[in-house]
Amino acid sequence: MAYLEVLPRPDRFGADIVGLDLHNRPHDVEAAELDRLIDIHGVLVIRGQALDHASLVGFSRRFGEVVVHQVAEYLAADHPEVMILSNNVEGGRPVGAPNNGIFWHSDQIFRRRPVAYTLLYGHEVPPEGGDTLFADMRAVHDDLPAALRDELAGRRAMHSFAVSYQKNYIAAAPLTPERRAANPDIGHPVLRTHPRTGRRAVFVDPDSTSHILDMDPQRSAALLDLLFATLEQPNYVYRHRWRQGDLVIWDNRCLMHRATGYDNSTHRRVMWRTQVAGDEPF
Ligand code: OGA
Ligand code: MN
Repeated sequence: MAYLEVLPRPDRFGADIVGLDLHNRPHDVEAAELDRLIDIHGVLVIRGQALDHASLVGFSRRFGEVVVHQVAEYLAADHPEVMILSNNVEGGRPVGAPNNGIFWHSDQIFRRRPVAYTLLYGHEVPPEGGDTLFADMRAVHDDLPAALRDELAGRRAMHSFAVSYQKNYIAAAPLTPERRAANPDIGHPVLRTHPRTGRRAVFVDPDSTSHILDMDPQRSAALLDLLFATLEQPNYVYRHRWRQGDLVIWDNRCLMHRATGYDNSTHRRVMWRTQVAGDEPF
């Protein structure tokens, strides 16, 4: 076992992991150790990697079943498990999915079984901009006033792929009725319990959550606005400033995240993304 250093962020959640070469020695770290670290920190940053599609997919499998993304336009030809994200255009064709994830969200929240983990690799990153923000929804939950937590306990909220698709895939073809029907709106608990740690987290997102079920619509909208405003508060947010070769892994069951913009007329940002299956939230 190689020497592995875990550097928790002193002022924020998340940790850097130092001492790994995931392309050449992916088994220097045991899967159980990775799971344990991500349970604690929520987001792990492993800098200085030299991955290709195969080694990214291979490493992603350490976390569970890798799920092919349902938006097929931007999957890597050699490894469909890898989705390419980019706002750049080459020869008139998009390099990858543009404007992906610019609203706060938890990946695939609108599926019956949303993904547990996402892995994002900085293949090409801009010198400035294009940061990824993460919000700790465990802390948001724990800091809620007791009366509000009681009001939300046992409630479910509705999430819509169609709403999210419209916002995120502005350059892609409009959603066909078939694809819309294949991704029906879905309800999940507003306060979700993490299946491994037992910790609760707020599980609604401004990307695709439409309303809280069985609640007066005005009250539902007011509560969602309050939760969305809360999660953006700087004390809940870690900003990841990318360097080329960074691999970032996060747990969608307890974090929200969002992309930020960059100047794609002068800079390139090309990210490789995989996602790992999760369970039905409870
Ligand atoms: C994602 C995502 C954010 C980013 O890949 O799920 O939200 O900064 N990406 O690219
Ligand atoms: Mn995302």
